[in-house]
Amino acid sequence: MLHVLNHPLGAHILTHLRDRTTHPATFRTLTYQISLLLALQTTRDLATRDHLIDTPLETTVGRVLARPLAVIPILRAGLGMVQPFTDLFPDVSVGYVGLERDHVTAVARSYYQKLPPLAGKRVIVIDPMLATGGSAVQALDVLRSEGATELYLACIVSSPEGVRTVEAAHPDVPIYTAALDRELNAKRYILPGLGDFGDRLYGT
Ligand code: PRP
Ligand code: URA
Repeated sequence: MLHVLNHPLGAHILTHLRDRTTHPATFRTLTYQISLLLALQTTRDLATRDHLIDTPLETTVGRVLARPLAVIPILRAGLGMVQPFTDLFPDVSVGYVGLERDHVTAVARSYYQKLPPLAGKRVIVIDPMLATGGSAVQALDVLRSEGATELYLACIVSSPEGVRTVEAAHPDVPIYTAALDRELNAKRYILPGLGDFGDRLYGT
């Protein structure tokens, strides 16, 4: 199921992320801000449980988070989306999947993996760009084989092809994206897109 962020602030941030004149420092701040909106969206239905506390005036029952959370950035660009999750959810576990697209074939090559225990957790894969969908599918395959059963995917810009590819391979994974763009170009970059996210994030 695809969920497209529908928030005026999201639209505002995206416009500046897309703008080629936006410099890396601002680009990183905008990435933090839009990822914060996505972090709220991907956790809005997290389970809670009763928790008894004493306020200064009386005893009352509140609600606290009941299920642990893991967030898995796809390196390298996914790193730019981690901090909102660690700011909001101090107990979150962070795992890493390193994937790099080949510049000619656009097929992703795995070069690193470091994962926490995943069973029983909501596991949110974060990667700003969902282009062919190859990287996301590879990451989701790995996480499933490592025991994840409740997987989510959060992206900033997605293509229709990428969404179709993930939905075909992992139909149970909800996809949250800030934008669903038009298409891929011949080099498998998203149009209108924002270019190479990792390069713009890190000034490379
Ligand atoms: C980008 C992006 C995704 C991937 C999307 O990473 O961050 O991981 O491409 O493309 P796909 O859907 O066609 O697989 P890239 O491989 O350029 O590596 P980087 O994050 O190190 O820049
Ligand atoms: N990766 C990016 O960073 N941008 C795209 O448009 C496609 C893949």
